[in-house]
Amino acid sequence: MTSKLIAPSVLAADFSNLQRDIEMINTSDADWFHIDIMDGVFVPNISFGMPVLRDIVKHATKTIDVHLMIVDPDRYIKTFADLGSDILTVHYEACNHLHRTLQAIKSEGMKAGVALNPHTNVNLLEDVINDIDMVCIMSVNPGFGGQSFIENTYQKTQQLKELITRNNASTLIEIDGGVTSKNAKQLIDAGADVLVAGSFVFGSENPTNTIKELRTIIS
Ligand code: DX5
Ligand code: ZN
Repeated sequence: MTSKLIAPSVLAADFSNLQRDIEMINTSDADWFHIDIMDGVFVPNISFGMPVLRDIVKHATKTIDVHLMIVDPDRYIKTFADLGSDILTVHYEACNHLHRTLQAIKSEGMKAGVALNPHTNVNLLEDVINDIDMVCIMSVNPGFGGQSFIENTYQKTQQLKELITRNNASTLIEIDGGVTSKNAKQLIDAGADVLVAGSFVFGSENPTNTIKELRTIIS
């Protein structure tokens, strides 16, 4: 059985103390850095872009998991590879030729992820599941941190797990949005492999301990 992973979302970090927050993740029980890139078109918000990612990568010592919430992501695949992304996740809803996009991501040496908005059915991935290293189920509408978790996510996670098993695929399931110590266990039990947590970690008194608490709950 694969071990379960924790990916703090840097979107919720203190950008005036970014190096401090990166070091916190480096030395914590977390596994990945989750990096949210928003273009103000695919989602109604703009986060940060390449210069900030470059500086994050400079200090980060763990896997860089980049979540692109942008239209036409094919334009930037090479750029994100050159910046040091290990996993590049594009949105199903933003790709006209998803199969081609997945191959392009992998040909740049990255793992390929596909994110699904809350309204997108997991079974739409049936024909490409063996080409996907990770599916990111959005448990909020993408665009902002600190939103509340959509309960239908448990059922979606189970459906995706069944689809992965049925196709003999090794795709990981990531859950993104509103993850807390309250829903973490149920998400893992439903089949999740990676939990993204932004405000729950960075909004807490002691982020290191909060990550540890999540780790205890899911392992
Ligand atoms: C939402 C982003 C998430 C977000 C999660 O559009 O993709 O990664 O940072 O933040 P929380 O955990 O606060 O919902
Ligand atoms: Zn995200």
